[in-house]
Parts: sequence; structure tokens; C-alpha cells
Amino acid sequence: CTTSNSISESFLQCFSSHIHSNSSSKIILTKHSSAYSSVLQSSIQNLRFLNTSTPKPEAIITPFKHSHVQAAVICSKKEGIQIRTRSGGHDYEGLSYVSTTPFIMIDLFELRSIDIDIENEIAWVESGATLGELYYAIAQKSKVYGFPAGTCPTIGVGGHISGGGFGSLFRKYGLAADNVLDAKIVDVNGRVLDRKSMGEELFWAIRGGGGSSFGVILSWKLRLVPVPPSVTGYMESKTIEQGATKLVSKWQAIADRIPEGNFLRLVLQVENGTNGGKTIQVVFNFLFLETYKELLPWMKENFPELNLDQTAFTEMSWIESVLFLANFPINETEVLLQRTQQSRSFFKAKSDYVTEPISEAGLEGLYQRMLQLDTSMLILSPFGGRMSEISESEIPFPHRKGNLYEIQYYVTWDDDKETKKHISWTRMVYGYMAAYVSKSPRAAYLNYRDLDLGTDKDANTSYAQATIWGLSYFKNNFRRLAQVKTLVDPGNFFRNEQSIPVLRSGE
Ligand code: FDA
Repeated sequence: CTTSNSISESFLQCFSSHIHSNSSSKIILTKHSSAYSSVLQSSIQNLRFLNTSTPKPEAIITPFKHSHVQAAVICSKKEGIQIRTRSGGHDYEGLSYVSTTPFIMIDLFELRSIDIDIENEIAWVESGATLGELYYAIAQKSKVYGFPAGTCPTIGVGGHISGGGFGSLFRKYGLAADNVLDAKIVDVNGRVLDRKSMGEELFWAIRGGGGSSFGVILSWKLRLVPVPPSVTGYMESKTIEQGATKLVSKWQAIADRIPEGNFLRLVLQVENGTNGGKTIQVVFNFLFLETYKELLPWMKENFPELNLDQTAFTEMSWIESVLFLANFPINETEVLLQRTQQSRSFFKAKSDYVTEPISEAGLEGLYQRMLQLDTSMLILSPFGGRMSEISESEIPFPHRKGNLYEIQYYVTWDDDKETKKHISWTRMVYGYMAAYVSKSPRAAYLNYRDLDLGTDKDANTSYAQATIWGLSYFKNNFRRLAQVKTLVDPGNFFRNEQSIPVLRSGE
């Protein structure tokens, strides 16, 4: 039980005795600690979960040794208090730092060492590192290696890799989770396990099944991938009045089938039109793993309507392309070491997978709905390439062959009073899009977490109840995830609103 003002004395005693030190006050921040609020707020990305009514952790544990994480798990379990683990804090629904039942948060920001071994093409990275820190560390050692993961540098390695993780290199090399060779995890009994000692089933589950259902992942051993010395970025936009719809149709017909090193992302957003009204603008945000000279004939053949002037293209190193795709000046590589976003807002997102091109009429209906909100945005990421070669059951992430592209619906706002309106908008657009996207199940991406899909009511939620949301994220891999969960955490200690359920007898 917890005292009314903060974490219980017996938890503190348990923790101190397990870390064999009386310095626990430096590691455990109670609600009275001066650093509590600033640490809690430091990596919250979504302002929806940064207000006085949001439930806060009884204490924040900031481990700087693996044994501190072990102590936190052992003592939380003993005291019957829930844990939330946070690496980069980018969870779309705040599940790493919000819970309606009393909980402590383990914030891994002090555990972020990165060890790059270019000769053997591997890296060991602790979960609290950000993607920006990882990319930066690789580039410090070599300009011709990279890692296939997300495009936003402040994302935490812990949540991102355990949920899949895709960015500009995934059509060539697969997801971040496809490139994990080993991992270290603290299990429900407080043991540190590696691939060998955790076994292949748990190792399978944490690469895409979400880490939070299975333990606290301390670190990952990653396969580094070769990248050319020069890559080329392309950025151009067209409004619907300038023929964007035809170009989107063209893009839909080829984007998943082009050479696998190339990543042709589209962003649809609302812009001021020439006649004083609003219009839809499509941003063509491409990255080619080749030089301008090499790719120009392909662009001329496929997109002659776009600006093919050399000034629209930027040739750069791979690390510079990370900045390019994140909208930073490409020579400011130190930006990658900034752990917090420059600006934060309220946001809601959802995801879909498209298996058949959407008709022009379908796109026009979408535009009409987007025009209802100035900040509505859709990000279209083409699949295909290596993603189509990896089997659906290789890791828990099942969205492989047959997907043309993934849509992320993303809307932001600045005032809590606007929350209801914006969330209703995402639900309305999602409803409209049902006719145009994957069905049975309507697939979704775990890393774009969406509690609208459904939630576990309590620790005893059955497998059947959890399939409401689980099949969307994991399709046929959901049962195997539940089997692993039943094996490694039968008491369902590691849980949240969308954690993998324990199978009950007969299920
Ligand atoms: P956070 O710390 O919030 O954790 C997310 C989940 O993982 C929580 O359930 C948490 O408990 C659990 N977790 C975290 N660390 C753990 C650990 N060490 N052990 C066990 N469980 C752990 N995705 C993508 O694929 N490509 C992209 O380009 C982007 N871009 C992007 C931009 C922005 C602005 C945002 C906010 C998000 C993205 N994402 C993304 C989504 C991102 O991959 C997703 O939110 C990740 O889960 C974030 O991981 P963090 O560690 O930052 O989150």
C-alpha cells in the first residue's frame, strides 16, 4: 500500500536493500522531490497528458545501473504496485507515464550508452538512448553505415524498437525490430536475461510485440546496415489545383514497387489557396539511396510533372538525410543530441494500411474532410521492397507483403478546449476511410498506438476480449504473443490498457 503523500516506506526500504546502498533518494524521485515535475515532464510529447488532472506516478525511478531496474521490478511486484516504463516518452496515448491505477514510472533516460562496432557491423544501445543519439554515434564512427529506424530523432530506442520501427531505410532493410540480434531484459522475477537465457519465444515477442507486456528491456544488439556515401533528398509540393490528385494516383501505382533503396513519402496537409480559401497540398518528400545523376532518368520517366531542376534535389551524406527528413538544416548534426522536441502540441493519431489504390473520388472525399480542420495531416509511407520479403510471422509485426502503403492520420492543436473537436475529427475521417483500407482485420501499427481500437478493462481481460484491438496490430501473431505472455508473466504484472493478455485455461 502507498502512503497518502507518496510511495510507501516499505517500497523504499526494499529498494535500498536491493541496491545495497542508501543513495536511493538520488534514484527515486517522490512527489516531494524538487526534480519530480521536471523529470516527469521532460519527455512528454503529447500535451493531452500534461495537465493537472492526468494521474501521476507515485514515484519516478531513474536507474543508472541495470541492478536499479531489477530492484524496481522486484520491489514493485512485492508491494503490488504497477510499473510503467518510459524510454523516449513518445507513446501516442501516454501509456509509458500515465495509469489510472497507482503506479511508479521507471524512466530510462540515464541508461543510454551506445557502443558502435563498425568492424563487426553491430551496435549495443541502451533503451534510454534516442534515435538521434544512435544515428549520431554511428556517424561519428562511419559515414557509410546507418540503422533502419524512424525519422523523428527524439524517439526513444526502447519503445520504438519493441514496437517495430520504420523510416527511410525500411524498404531496403526492414524494420528496426528486424535488425535486432540480441537484447537484455529484466523479467518479472527481476532477472537480467539475454537472448540465450530468455529463449527464442520471448526474444521473438519483444521485437514488435511491444516491450511493456514482457519486462523492462535494458538494451539491444543491433545490426548496422551499409549506406552509400551520397544519398539524395527531394522535396516539392503541389496543390490539388496544380494536379496533385493525378500525381497521388501515379504514386499509388508505383511507390511500393520501385527499387528498394528509395523511399517516396507523401504528406497531405491543408494550405491557404490562391483564391483566399483553403486547399490540400501534397508534399513529395523522397529519399533516394543514389546520386542525383543516377536517379534523374527515373524521375523524368515517372514524375515529369514535378520540378526536376537540380535545385529541388539535395545530395548529402546519410546522417544529413536524417536531418533533412526531420526538417532541420542538414549541417546541424548536433541537433540529433537534443532529447526534447523544440515544440510540443496536443495530438491524436491513427493508422491504416492500404492494399488497393484509392480512387480519385475516394481521395476527393478525403480532401473535403481534411479541409474541415486546418491542422489535419496524413502521412503516406510506401511499403514493398524488403518489407514484402519478410514473412508475416518472422516477428510480431505482421504488415508485410500485399500492403501498398501505410497511412498515418495526425492532427495537432494548441488548446485543451479543442481536444474533443479534434479527436472527433480523427474518428470521423477514420470512419470515412474504412471503405478504402485493409479489412478483417482493419490493420493498425502498434507504434502509432490508438486506444480507440479497444482497451483491456482490467488484469483479467480475456484473450477473446483483447482480440478487439490485438488482431489489428498483430493479426495471426496475437495468439502466439499471448502464449509467450502466459509463459513469462502468468500473473500479468507488466500490464497497461493495451498489453498482451494472459491465456486462461480453455482459451
Ligand atoms: P515511450 O517511452 O513512450 O514508450 C512507448 C511504449 O513502449 C510504452 O508502452 C512503454 O511502456 C514501452 N517501453 C518503452 N521503453 C521500454 C523498455 N525499455 N522496455 C519495455 N517497454 C518499454 N514510429 C515509427 O515507426 N517511425 C517514425 O518515423 C515515427 N515518428 C514519430 C514521430 C513523433 C513526433 C512521435 C511522437 C512518434 C513517432 N513514431 C514513429 C512512433 C514511435 O515509434 C512510438 O511512439 C514509440 O513507441 C516511441 O518509443 P519511446 O521509447 O519514445 O516511447
